Amino acid sequence: VEPRSGPTRSEVQAHRGASAVAPENTIAAFRAAAEQGAEWVELDVALLGDGTPVVIHDVSIDRCSSSKGNLADLTASDLKAIDAGAWFAPQFMGEPLPTLASVVSALGELGLNANVEIKQHAHHKSLDQLVNIVDRHLKARAPHTRIMISSFDAAALRGMHALDPSYELAMLWSRVPADWLDILRSIPASTIHLDYKALSIGFLEEAVRCGIKVRAWTCNDPKRLASFWDAGLAGVITDDPSVYLT
Ligand code: G3P
Ligand code: MG
Repeated sequence: VEPRSGPTRSEVQAHRGASAVAPENTIAAFRAAAEQGAEWVELDVALLGDGTPVVIHDVSIDRCSSSKGNLADLTASDLKAIDAGAWFAPQFMGEPLPTLASVVSALGELGLNANVEIKQHAHHKSLDQLVNIVDRHLKARAPHTRIMISSFDAAALRGMHALDPSYELAMLWSRVPADWLDILRSIPASTIHLDYKALSIGFLEEAVRCGIKVRAWTCNDPKRLASFWDAGLAGVITDDPSVYLT
């Protein structure tokens, strides 16, 4: 095996789309990722008050739109009045806050695969409802669209596994808990997505020995990860895929 100091194309995931150059979690950001040559995007899914799944990171639309409000108080009919682009730059004015349905369809058109991060927010009525809605929407994807599921919430991953054991599941951690392998086996999940600042060669090698894949988030400086690829790092989630792909 050749030594390597960077990821292959399929190991790079555009965090919230190419969020360094376009408004995060919008179709414009996913298109920008595809234009940069990314094969995978990461995106965050949450529910509006009426159960509509949308692609957004926060529990409110305050930071990433020109409006204000909590997801819990919004319904699908409110989406047409929300501009999720102008906050980032004037050229993105009018960019919609996308439903998961519209993103799944755009992924197919753009030829992108997706790491779908399930956010578990306090206003979500039940975990069952959340995973059922997400699974049903993902089942409508194009046949060439590959999906992996990630979450900080082990129960959300368990719920997705119960609905469809073929999903690749990734546990999100900011630091590795002592009982990490027990947690993964209880889901079961094959993959860890870890804050790159918490990554060590020792842990990476142990995970690899246990048959567990590790990807690092959210790293925009390839130099910070250079020593990890040879130790078995399986991928990077980055706001700026171009720095890894050029
Ligand atoms: O997938 C990695 C990363 O997206 C997890 O954190 O807060 O950006 O969703 P966050
Ligand atoms: Mg995320």
